[in-house]
Amino acid sequence: MTERNILVTAALPYANGHIHLGHLVEYIQTDVWVRFQKLRGRRCIYICADDTHGTAIMIRARQEGRREEQVIADMQAAHVRDFSGFQIQFDNYGSTHSDENRRLCAEIWAALRKAGIIVEREVDRLYDPEVQTFLADRFVKGKCPKCGAPDQYGDSCEKCLAKYDPTDLVEPRSTISGATPVVKRSTQLFVRIEDLHAFLEEWTQTSGALQPEISNYLKGHFLGEPLRDWDVSRPARYFGFEIPDSPGNYWYVWFDAPIGYMASTLEWCQKHGEDFNRWWRDPGTEIHHFIGKDITYFHTLFWPAMLKTAGFSLPKQVHIHGFLTVGGEKMSKARGTFILASTYLKHLDPAFLRYFYATKLTPRVEDLDLNGAEFVGKVNADLVGKVVNLASRTAKFVHGTGLSPAYPADGGLFEYAARQSSAIADAYETGDYNRAMRLVMELADRANPYVESREPWNLKKDAAKGRELQDVCTVALNLFRQLAIYLAPVLPRLAEQTAELLNCPMKRWDEAKNPLVGTKVGHFTHLMKRAELKQFEAMIEESKQPEGGAGATAGAGGAASADGGEALAKEPLLAETCSFDEFSKVDLRIARVVAAEDVKDSDKLLRLTLSLGGDVRKSVFAGIKGVYKPEELVGRLVVCCANLAPRKMRFGVSEGMVLASGTGGKEIYLLLPDSGAVPGQRVH
Ligand code: 2FM
Ligand code: ZN
Repeated sequence: MTERNILVTAALPYANGHIHLGHLVEYIQTDVWVRFQKLRGRRCIYICADDTHGTAIMIRARQEGRREEQVIADMQAAHVRDFSGFQIQFDNYGSTHSDENRRLCAEIWAALRKAGIIVEREVDRLYDPEVQTFLADRFVKGKCPKCGAPDQYGDSCEKCLAKYDPTDLVEPRSTISGATPVVKRSTQLFVRIEDLHAFLEEWTQTSGALQPEISNYLKGHFLGEPLRDWDVSRPARYFGFEIPDSPGNYWYVWFDAPIGYMASTLEWCQKHGEDFNRWWRDPGTEIHHFIGKDITYFHTLFWPAMLKTAGFSLPKQVHIHGFLTVGGEKMSKARGTFILASTYLKHLDPAFLRYFYATKLTPRVEDLDLNGAEFVGKVNADLVGKVVNLASRTAKFVHGTGLSPAYPADGGLFEYAARQSSAIADAYETGDYNRAMRLVMELADRANPYVESREPWNLKKDAAKGRELQDVCTVALNLFRQLAIYLAPVLPRLAEQTAELLNCPMKRWDEAKNPLVGTKVGHFTHLMKRAELKQFEAMIEESKQPEGGAGATAGAGGAASADGGEALAKEPLLAETCSFDEFSKVDLRIARVVAAEDVKDSDKLLRLTLSLGGDVRKSVFAGIKGVYKPEELVGRLVVCCANLAPRKMRFGVSEGMVLASGTGGKEIYLLLPDSGAVPGQRVH
């Protein structure tokens, strides 16, 4: 096996909130991968940190009457506690608010300046005189300059869909303090990443660092046109690092956040006498980032552009995952499905979540769902019923004698499981944990009938069968141990308990190839208790919070999801009921299908181009493949929700929704207005 040096990162959680089950999809997924690499004997480090800068922390500190440093220190302690509760083991957990990070930011900044890709522009922005900060678009509301609708955000009107500058809003007010903002001119600094267009095109399309759907998404959405300058500065007051050669301006949180990966590595290097350049500038080291799909742009365009310009290594792979839904829906505080890590731990075993997520994770960018009944059913059937059961039904019978001195005949079971080692390893390596778990459970399905047919509990009753009993238990415990090794990346605690029970440390993947004989068997203690649906329900109950207010926003449910709180504010409030006023906001319009095409790789979707009259066009994905042929739709009229916020989907952005009735599957009937209707006409 060739020696591999691997640096792995997970997205830095924002210091403005606690870890929830959505975040854990990523940290568990990454932890499993790192543990797997270590078990395979690779040199691998898992690096993370808190992402501490930005407007949201500043506001929180102000609200709590504390210094930002205090706020971020407390949150960091809480994050570390939650991660360790889920057996997520970082080699270093740092903070972006560190001297190391400030230094590295300055170094990279100097390289960008030297490359001549920093540009400065004067920009008019709204400023909150009370809080003394410039306001991001979503921190200001007012009347739409076009239609006069009240309570509209600073960038667009939800009523008439107009797009405008925040400075155009009528009667604007700051959503932070309620004060009337003033227009203030500020100097903004931008990175002209268009200069790296050719490099980014090549890297995203040919390096193999990205999943194919991500490469296509970038090509379809960004790389087909000039890349927009990236706004990397924020004027004071801002909680962050002041830009050394631009006093009064601070690096935007997204500039220093990924550099935090390096800063945290540097901290680790300092603690362990390691050479930083070996990790970030050596082509022999592989860098792997694990992130949620919401922060794709930053990690696949900005970040490689920065690394390239400053002469650091590019990531070997960016592993991008989907979001968590709970019970098929976006996480919601009102429904109790916005579950904090700490709440989960009060009710359920962390091993269950690690295993459940593993069964759901594939190399594709797909959302995954946590459903209570499925969760309980799966962990009980697989972990308690198939895996732990092998030990709980046999270990006690060999507590006195230990394992047989030679491995007994088992009909080829051990040998078969040993041969599966490389298939399971490949599945882990490629992030196909779903497949890895299936392969392991198939082995468990072969092992259990052996125990059932040999009935050790009956052998125990016959003193003359002591030898046979020892042999049967030796086989069962060895098959169990193989499973424990294969599951060790997912279930590290079970691996430790198994090593203790069988008096033999479990440190290497290849240990699954050789049976254990002659060792003592410890006293059997319960390895895992069954999960109960009522525990899951109690966890949901405890997570319920009243609707409305800031408490109702659930974030994206992905790994992490904020850019200093500014993106978080864009998430619509989740309401259980919909008032008449809210419903009346839905803008239904007649539209004509001007083009329709099949979305390859999707078994449900067609992409429709709709004309809403004049030159208003929308590109919409509709789950009607197999029900309607693309060609029969072209020229037809449909009803479309025209003011639905654009939604990023796996295959592109959907800018609206066509209406249909029916129960789904083949039972889908598009609402097809008669030919007298006119595109753009409002439907009441
Ligand atoms: O999306 C987020 O929550 C960010 N805090 C992730 C940062 S990842 C990296 F770039 F630092
Ligand atoms: Zn309007």
